[in-house]
Amino acid sequence: MPSADLFIHSANYLATVGGHSAKPAQGKEMANAGLIEDGALAIYDGKIVAVGKTSDVEESGWVGSATQCLNAQGKFVAPGFVDPHTHALYAGSREHELSLKIKGVPYLDILKQGGGILSTVRKTTQASDEEIKAQTMKRLSTMLSLGTTTAEVKSGYGLSLQEELRALRLIHELNAEQPIDLVATFMGAHAVPPEYSEESFTEWLVKDVLHKVAQENLAEYCDVFCEPGVFSVASSERILREARKQGFKLKIHADELESAGGAELAGQLQVVSAEHLLKASDEGISAMAKNNVIGVILPATSFNLANNTYARARDMIGLGMAIALATDCNPGSSPTESMPFVLTLACLYLRLTPEEALTAATINAAHAIGKADTVGSLEVGKQGDVLILDVPNIDYLPYHFGVNPVETVIKNGIIV
Ligand code: NIG
Ligand code: FE
Repeated sequence: MPSADLFIHSANYLATVGGHSAKPAQGKEMANAGLIEDGALAIYDGKIVAVGKTSDVEESGWVGSATQCLNAQGKFVAPGFVDPHTHALYAGSREHELSLKIKGVPYLDILKQGGGILSTVRKTTQASDEEIKAQTMKRLSTMLSLGTTTAEVKSGYGLSLQEELRALRLIHELNAEQPIDLVATFMGAHAVPPEYSEESFTEWLVKDVLHKVAQENLAEYCDVFCEPGVFSVASSERILREARKQGFKLKIHADELESAGGAELAGQLQVVSAEHLLKASDEGISAMAKNNVIGVILPATSFNLANNTYARARDMIGLGMAIALATDCNPGSSPTESMPFVLTLACLYLRLTPEEALTAATINAAHAIGKADTVGSLEVGKQGDVLILDVPNIDYLPYHFGVNPVETVIKNGIIV
């Protein structure tokens, strides 16, 4: 038996978030993060080979003279965060929207005036590959320092076939060039460019674009911004049905700003996940619960939209849904890379317990992007994606906010 490469031991607590690799933690199951006091784990060849109490891992036979030992005394050890919803690939920024928002200009009004998403589309289209990559690389390294070891990234700031394919290609290049594992989502239906109507753009996506994006094999998921004034439920349904035919797995931005049947559609189509859901109706929530749709909740977006509206996560958990958490990292509605901040907001405003929030930010998030077989929990056989957090227990993690609690990030068994 070879020696483990890395042995992390004596953690005040270690959260395995185990037992949910086959199916997300639903409803009440989310409340158990698999806490082990005096926890330890061993990693060999990038994978977890032993996890448990320090004495048990010591006795497992994996710890040898060649093993690097990290003492996590007084610390909390957790799986690397999985951020299952970002729009992290873009150029430029939109800080001028902050004062508009304070004056009361609604998010969609800024978009209708050619700002918002469309202004980022212009800046991204004008930028070179190198510029987009350098700006995105900086965000990804901030994400990594804040504990994110796996993330989804959507296209959607191109809105032409060529620009959308470029975005997806750049996501793949960035995946290979830095430590965070990236999952790509095609989101050509992110906004309607000014030269189209919603109908003509939908028609174009369905007839001319989806099969070409599928052929390039650059995206696993397809997502749509289903919202009155952007893509209606009918248009979203057309796009998602065609996307499914072309082999994409499905996601939907639903009921973010208005209750308009997005969550109901998510249930009807049995999409993998529905995102935002601030205004999801009772019917929508029960349709999602019945159809095992994962609710990806983005409380940093609620915080930044600054209208005191948060998704009804407790009702969703009460009906047995699996909830995941994400940053929504984007230049408009959520300019942040921080999963720790999302955890704080999830506890304070979604009323998740710290254990539920950690489950939502790890294994359930991994399920939302099809990665639960390899990441999202600290279990034997999983990738060695581990955080040592400078907090004494799980409650302290959301409690002490606005700072970075992450002391050490281990990706595939390597300290990064
Ligand atoms: O998830 N809602 C649509 N898309 C993003 C916002 C993107 C932007 O404002 O640039 C979101 O909130
Ligand atoms: Fe989004």
